[in-house]
Amino acid sequence: MKICCIGAGYVGGPTMAMIAQKCPDIEVAVVDLNEARIAAWNSDALPVYEPGLQELVEQRRDKNLFFSTEVKKHIKAADVIFISVGTPTKSYGIGAGQAAELGYVEGCARMIAEVCEGPKIVIEKSTVPVRTAELIKSVFEGYEKGHLFEILSNPEFLAEGTAVSDLENPDRVLIGGDSTETGQKAVQTVVDIYNRWVPRENIITTNVWSSELSKLVANAFLAQRVSSINAISAVCEASGADVDEVANAIGKDSRIGPKFLKSSVGFGGSCFQKDILNLVYLCEHFGLRDVAEYWRQVIKINDYQRKRFTQKVIHSLYNTLQGKRVAVLGFAFKKDTNDTRESAAIYICRDLLEEGADIVVYDPQVPAEEIKALTSDKVQIASSAEEACDGAHAALVLTEWDAFKELDYSAIYQSMVKPAHIFDGRNILDLDALETIGFKAYGIGKA
Ligand code: UDX
Ligand code: UDX
Ligand code: ADP
Repeated sequence: MKICCIGAGYVGGPTMAMIAQKCPDIEVAVVDLNEARIAAWNSDALPVYEPGLQELVEQRRDKNLFFSTEVKKHIKAADVIFISVGTPTKSYGIGAGQAAELGYVEGCARMIAEVCEGPKIVIEKSTVPVRTAELIKSVFEGYEKGHLFEILSNPEFLAEGTAVSDLENPDRVLIGGDSTETGQKAVQTVVDIYNRWVPRENIITTNVWSSELSKLVANAFLAQRVSSINAISAVCEASGADVDEVANAIGKDSRIGPKFLKSSVGFGGSCFQKDILNLVYLCEHFGLRDVAEYWRQVIKINDYQRKRFTQKVIHSLYNTLQGKRVAVLGFAFKKDTNDTRESAAIYICRDLLEEGADIVVYDPQVPAEEIKALTSDKVQIASSAEEACDGAHAALVLTEWDAFKELDYSAIYQSMVKPAHIFDGRNILDLDALETIGFKAYGIGKA
């Protein structure tokens, strides 16, 4: 069997590497139009930073795992084609700011229709709005090739930073397909691939629409938990409660559970906001205004949380940042990834720049050019946390990199302008210890 995955991104690359690892008899080709990206996948500096990924790729690369720009050749040769291209939020026209840009998915469908002559299973892997499978089907029908293709939905639930272990031990694999005989046969083919390492009871099969919708709903629920605890963090700051104590107390209720209750500067990443916007757009399309409004609120609280953090910084620095050096520790949207999409750090840096701050950023994985491109050329990039903090009025922890817990804060304090302020946007530091050193230390949801 041959598999081709279109799109060598954060989802396509790691997922295919895991399939290649678990199914040595299957030839897996990951194709992309972006030559630099493919070259990076073929090098020892992968374009995606994920713990354990480099080793995984090296074990299978050029054996049964190939990264290539020969998109058409590999599509034509494959039995199973995964579509794993980006679906960013549309920035123009109808649905701007809400609907997903499906141009890349449509482009893939057209390319598949143009080059394929025999039957194929086509799987949507990208996070897509509900009913994208229908779009793909209608493209195929336009080429009078509808009969050749079975379209399945197999959304990916991996989280960045833990992609390899999530792929190795997924909570579940979800496969949606038609109830027709050929549809069910295609579903079984994909079940058999995952069943090589995922127990059958953890592989859920549904119809296509349930599968598409479940992906959006899973991300909406997760984002909602973060917004819920972040909303409560504001109440904690006002009332004298401590958000970590509250999270611990409610998380012990087995109906609530302890995970995903970490208050922060706000969620980021390529999925949460985009998927909620998709859900909102879908609800509005169906005339479900109240439901749309309910979910939109999750994003509003996220925006509010980022603004609240920025305002606290400005207020604590005597309402002016003009000419003050501000160290930003961490720029990725979470630890253990080099991904910056929708990172709270982007928005916070932009707002602080507006206030006239001199920003110096340190992130262990994000390239300097990317930080500048997302903020301003004026932003300086440091090669260590210590360098960023040297001479700064304030230090802001925006990503929860483990290394930030181990820094020598006494030495950092010595190098900063006094009074030295530290704002822990991830609640990973010991504020009392920092206060003892001499810092004015602030967390999220702590009075
Ligand atoms: C998410 C989903 O978890 C994953 O299942 C889906 O496939 C893709 O979207 P990802 O965006 O990679 O994964 O990371 P995730 O761990 O979900 O974190 C998203 C954002 O929420 C990050 O910015 C993170 O810092 C933030 N977050 C998460 C919190 O602020 N508090 C938490 O308790 C958890
Ligand atoms: C609740 C809390 O669960 C309990 O911890 C607290 O001490 C008091 O309030 P109670 O109101 O007795 O307890 O019942 P609960 O089981 O929480 O149900 C509350 C309502 O939610 C009921 O009308 C129930 O039918 C409804 N519900 C609950 C749902 O509609 N769906 C669910 O999945 C769960
Ligand atoms: P994700 O996080 O969903 O993996 P990325 O943006 O990281 O998204 O990756 C999507 C990849 O898909 C990009 O590298 C892009 O170049 C590639 N891509 C988009 N359209 C096509 C296409 N028609 N053919 C091949 N690759 C494509």
